[in-house]
Amino acid sequence: MVDNIPEHIAIIMDGNGRWAEKRGIPRFAGHKEGVSTVVSIVKTAIKYKVRVLTLYAFSTENWKRPKPEVDFILKLPKEFLNIYLPELKANHVRIGAIGDMEKLPFHTREALQYAIDSTKENDGLQMNFALNYGGRDEILHAVKAMATDLNDGKISIDKVDNKQFSKYLYTTDLPEPDLLIRTGGEKRLSNFLLWQLAYTEFWFTDVLWPDFSEKEFLRALEDYGKRKRRYGGVDELNEAILS
Ligand code: FPP
Repeated sequence: MVDNIPEHIAIIMDGNGRWAEKRGIPRFAGHKEGVSTVVSIVKTAIKYKVRVLTLYAFSTENWKRPKPEVDFILKLPKEFLNIYLPELKANHVRIGAIGDMEKLPFHTREALQYAIDSTKENDGLQMNFALNYGGRDEILHAVKAMATDLNDGKISIDKVDNKQFSKYLYTTDLPEPDLLIRTGGEKRLSNFLLWQLAYTEFWFTDVLWPDFSEKEFLRALEDYGKRKRRYGGVDELNEAILS
């Protein structure tokens, strides 16, 4: 039994390359296996009524990888959607994307746009792909857009606060993540959702993404269920002691 399911879960899916290297097979095979994990985790998220799932699939820094690997990763959204979009639709999933889409190959953008358009009325799990996404890039993009609106007199400087600024981020209408999961053993953010993770609970595992199972996912949810979130305040017991 899992209590207190997070409304929004963000995942850094790390470890595909090492999973493949351990088996003496090309890194591509690790990414391919990573897609199977995506399928199983989405199913679990639907089962437990998670409202938003945001998956870090390709960062603004991932362009530094060898071109064949970049090309391979950027074909995965289309391949995934070609196979699973009907099932996702049947489960009322709404597809979204965050990141700078303009620099992505046409086939990636086209497949995503089709999925976004054809699921926009759905009211089930919102599944977001972070593609060509970088937290700093997103903040700069937002600052520029907001500065333009300030210049054009569309907003006034004294109205600018956290809420107003958040509207300019790629995540504009999304709640902030309650839980961040990173697989693959590293304990860093790698430029993911820098603004949005301010009060998010973090959960790290050494399990490599292709081995990340429903069981491991449930461990993360159970652990989250026990956490007390104070958002910089004090919990009720401390409040009673202090008063
Ligand atoms: C990081 O592992 C993983 C990536 C950069 C790619 C992630 C992509 C997927 C899991 C597939 C996405 C699925 C869809 C449907 C778009 P790494 O290669 O850095 O692993 P390593 O740290 O072991 O080298």
